[in-house]
Amino acid sequence: MKSVFDTLAVTGHEQVLFCADEAAGYRGIIAIHSTALGPALGGTRLLRYTSDEDALIDALRLSRGMTYKNALAGMNVGGGKAVVLHGGAEPLDRERLFRAHGRFIERLGGRFITGEDVGTTPADMELIRRETRHVKGLAGEGGDPSPWTARGVLRAIQAAARHRWGSDDLAGRTVALQGCGSVGSRLAAGLHRLGARLIVADVDPERARHVAAELGAAVAPPGEIASVHADIFAPCALGGVLDDRAVQALRAEIVAGAANNQLLEPRHGDALAARGVLYVPDVVANAGGVLSGGADLFGWPRAEVERRVHAIHDTVLLVLERAKADGTPPHVAAERLAEQRLRERAAAG
Ligand code: NAI
Repeated sequence: MKSVFDTLAVTGHEQVLFCADEAAGYRGIIAIHSTALGPALGGTRLLRYTSDEDALIDALRLSRGMTYKNALAGMNVGGGKAVVLHGGAEPLDRERLFRAHGRFIERLGGRFITGEDVGTTPADMELIRRETRHVKGLAGEGGDPSPWTARGVLRAIQAAARHRWGSDDLAGRTVALQGCGSVGSRLAAGLHRLGARLIVADVDPERARHVAAELGAAVAPPGEIASVHADIFAPCALGGVLDDRAVQALRAEIVAGAANNQLLEPRHGDALAARGVLYVPDVVANAGGVLSGGADLFGWPRAEVERRVHAIHDTVLLVLERAKADGTPPHVAAERLAEQRLRERAAAG
């Protein structure tokens, strides 16, 4: 097995902290992947991991993803992530847990700024806030990022259409949309406004029915949405949807959606390219959410957030053009572009 330091040499992490406060029942990992562009920004997730190693792998993978997402979004912040290990005992003493976590974040002196993530809530962020000011997403702060994410995904889809079919125009195109939640339902409304035809699916049938009734969409069973006859497949539910089966079954020419980590493994990005399916990397398409955080972080006025979310179109085009020119799949082109931005920043001092 590789040593931890060998792993870090591959992933390129600056610092990984293993934090423990046994009296508080707290064990956490804070992974700082990069502060090249600014303080490492990343949520804190609370999960029951099957092993400490799984928790470490999750923190390393997610923090690296944050560096790339922020760099591609043009945000001057780095990438980090924290995981708090759920010990299994219920009820959790959330106050002791998150205050202990907050004390470790405070010791980092602003190199890491955290926020809500899977398993944590604005109330937990309030608890962290009692120990450090390096936390965002408190109750009543910032607002819901989903509308911004949906707008950004819509722009990403338009850019993909331009790259593929020569025009942003989505009128008459059919979009198969997986997941009618906060982002998916708004994306559906945006696509409908632009004249696209919709086929939607959700494991919660009521949500799919609601969107269908409102927008005149067709409904497909959740297990079939990736393989229905459509021009575009928009995954807006879970990660890992692009697996061996889905890649083979896809009939759409474009895949672009909001879900994080859509490729089960990087090789599925290669397989999509080999099949001639144009995949818009999720880190580029769903950046509207992180960009909306710029209001809080940098005091951007609404018009600035709007301008940047609108510009996701240009970033997608750039990634797709580079992928074509270099003969690489788009997910590789996106990583290269992010790494280039990090290098340029480092060279500029
Ligand atoms: P949500 O929880 O509001 O909606 C997800 C929807 O997907 C739910 O309606 C759920 O019932 C449905 N769903 C779950 N499994 C499904 C399946 N197998 N087939 C069909 N539908 C299924 O979540 P939200 O906020 O809309 O986010 C959607 C995705 O976008 C997630 O992967 C999230 O990580 C990602 N994302 C969201 C951002 C945001 O601003 N909310 C920002 C960036 C990424």
